[in-house]
Amino acid sequence: MTTLSGRRIILGVTGGIAAYKAVDLCRRLVEAGAYVTPVLTRGALEMVGEVTFSALASERARTSLFNDPSTPIPHTVMGQNADMVLVAPATARIISDIRTGRSADLLTATILATRAPLMICPAMHTEMWEQVSVQENLEVLRSRGVHVVEPESGRLAGGDVGLGRLAEPATIVTAVHDVLSHNVSATDDLAGKRVLVTAGGTREPIDAVRFVGNRSSGRQGHALARNAAERGADVVLVTTNPASAPSGVRVVNVSTADEMHRACSDEAPRADVVVMAAAVADFRPQEIVDRKLKKDKGTLSVEFEPTVDILAGLGAAKPNGQVLVGFAAETDDVEHNAAAKLDKKNLDIIVANDVSKPGVGFEYETNEVVVLRADGGRQQTPLCSKDEVARAVLDAAVEALNHRTRNRGTDNRDDKEQE
Ligand code: CTP
Repeated sequence: MTTLSGRRIILGVTGGIAAYKAVDLCRRLVEAGAYVTPVLTRGALEMVGEVTFSALASERARTSLFNDPSTPIPHTVMGQNADMVLVAPATARIISDIRTGRSADLLTATILATRAPLMICPAMHTEMWEQVSVQENLEVLRSRGVHVVEPESGRLAGGDVGLGRLAEPATIVTAVHDVLSHNVSATDDLAGKRVLVTAGGTREPIDAVRFVGNRSSGRQGHALARNAAERGADVVLVTTNPASAPSGVRVVNVSTADEMHRACSDEAPRADVVVMAAAVADFRPQEIVDRKLKKDKGTLSVEFEPTVDILAGLGAAKPNGQVLVGFAAETDDVEHNAAAKLDKKNLDIIVANDVSKPGVGFEYETNEVVVLRADGGRQQTPLCSKDEVARAVLDAAVEALNHRTRNRGTDNRDDKEQE
């Protein structure tokens, strides 16, 4: 049994030249055990034949909202029964229609009629892909929890080469596996909990084209967000790097420390767990020049002023029962400095790493941390993947949450005994 066994997938195919690759995708999904119903738009039918899909899929291909002999309302029947709606290739047109909620044909109507996860795999020419309108639409869809499988670079229609080619069918099948396996996740110890994660390095502008930043990639924060979602949490990810955000989480895109501060102030009061994994700039240029500074003068002096310490503010305003997790990137006296930050910022957990060690922290795929808890608990991980570190951090957060619940129970009993 794979995670795709018996899962009902609506495969939406739209009118891009990459529609021919959707034939292979359809075959692979069926081979992996999925029950695939292809839905082809008018544009798709210009590129590939209905019969091709009907022959390979679990059901005949559908092409119209009307004239379906089995039901007068095919979009609601399919939408309600689906475990996932997958659109590959997704043209700029359908991306825009999904964003605006337009019901223009069987596929868009089915997308509106489903509560199942939606995954889209954009494919188009580089110029189209880079349009602000297309990128804005995708950003909105990501923030609504739509899973986007990014296109790849390579040969495009007409012999051009560039970014915009449909992801390989094998890559798409893996992404479908990932999403559907999260939906049947074995560990649901964060089910019903809201988790806020911040990730990435902030960028503080100097002038119209330059900024001061840091080397954080956002990988550790994204691994935390993905892991929390897998464990059943309702996750909000505030990140400076939305392009590599995991699927299945709500993404809030920010750039500066100030924007991150505002997003956290909005989201944190409702969160059960807050994990502040972002590398927030401690200083920002006092003045931002709105034009490009010219190099004629030879030297440039920039005055910096401190940014808000977001985590300290969250610690000071921490609601009852919330578990607040901070990170400490250190190079000297790692545990001592981290413990001081835990105390000073009123945290429940701090994750300390020695970023002077090879393979640890910024830019690496791996990490090695010590997880310190306010109750004195301590756990050290070996050098391992950021996913493994995420699991260790969330294990500690779950333990702290459960500890709170147990204590609240005991406190209530004490109250009763005193009455
Ligand atoms: N942090 C924050 N806002 C800032 C700076 C840091 O919320 N303006 C958070 C980070 O996200 C991290 C924790 O504070 O979770 C510790 O960050 P770190 O850079 O290690 O320490 P600082 O508190 O900035 O202190 P220092 O740079 O002096 O070590």
